[in-house]
Amino acid sequence: YKRVTTKSLVEMKRNNRKIAMLTAYDYTMAKIIDNAGIDIILVGDSASNVMAGHETTLPITLDQMIYHASSVIRAIERCLVVVDLPFGSYQGNSRNALDSAIRIMKESGAHSIKMEGGEEIAESIKRILSAGIPVMGHLGLTPQSIYKFGSYTVRAKKDTEAEKLKKDALLLEDLGCFAVVLEKVPAKLAEEVARSLTIPVIGIGAGNVDGQVLVTHDMLGMTHEFSPRFLRRYLDLYNEMDGAFKKYITDVKSGDFPNDDEQY
Ligand code: KIV
Ligand code: NA
Repeated sequence: YKRVTTKSLVEMKRNNRKIAMLTAYDYTMAKIIDNAGIDIILVGDSASNVMAGHETTLPITLDQMIYHASSVIRAIERCLVVVDLPFGSYQGNSRNALDSAIRIMKESGAHSIKMEGGEEIAESIKRILSAGIPVMGHLGLTPQSIYKFGSYTVRAKKDTEAEKLKKDALLLEDLGCFAVVLEKVPAKLAEEVARSLTIPVIGIGAGNVDGQVLVTHDMLGMTHEFSPRFLRRYLDLYNEMDGAFKKYITDVKSGDFPNDDEQY
């Protein structure tokens, strides 16, 4: 195999080859996903929801992101690993942003970081890039700003917001980002942005752009109460696991487990 790099991802876009990305927060899941042939694993701050049970992504800390990232890094052999800079670790202070990015790279061994926002965080992105750390952008629905917007509905439906998004996407490319995630924006707008950039646009609820990302626990059907239109479920793991756990409990209570062969 050949390792996926930030350069090979841009090349994939140039050759019209789609990019597949999924989230992982732990060693065992990352190993399965990497072996399956994924291009990018995102250690998303969605760990705040999926792993820790918080309502938003805001509470997760830099130390917790580093713990998840280092677990993922120990598992992978081929894919590129991107780690979210968590809320509060980069906004408004580029020195602080650089320190946060350096901690992730040094302490987890990750290959790159992701940050939410455009023009507002340009100084931080510039400073991190100038340290040689690859940056993935993230525009559209940016969950770290949920309290500013008040809801998780589709973004950039209004012309003024669409114009700002297009400008921000071009800015991210100009600054030197190697890719950008577009979350929950109209497919037509996302397609236009993808056409205007040479770096790949990776969509989640953003139509058929240069690549796709989903939260692994969602696409496996483990988080069965979460059901947005963009989510394609590849398994119904919630019900599979529910069945297995109930069977185990029944077997233990009835004395069926362990049987004669399952003991020493
Ligand atoms: O944290 C995350 O999982 C993400 C993806 C949804 C893009 O940022
Ligand atoms: Na995220």
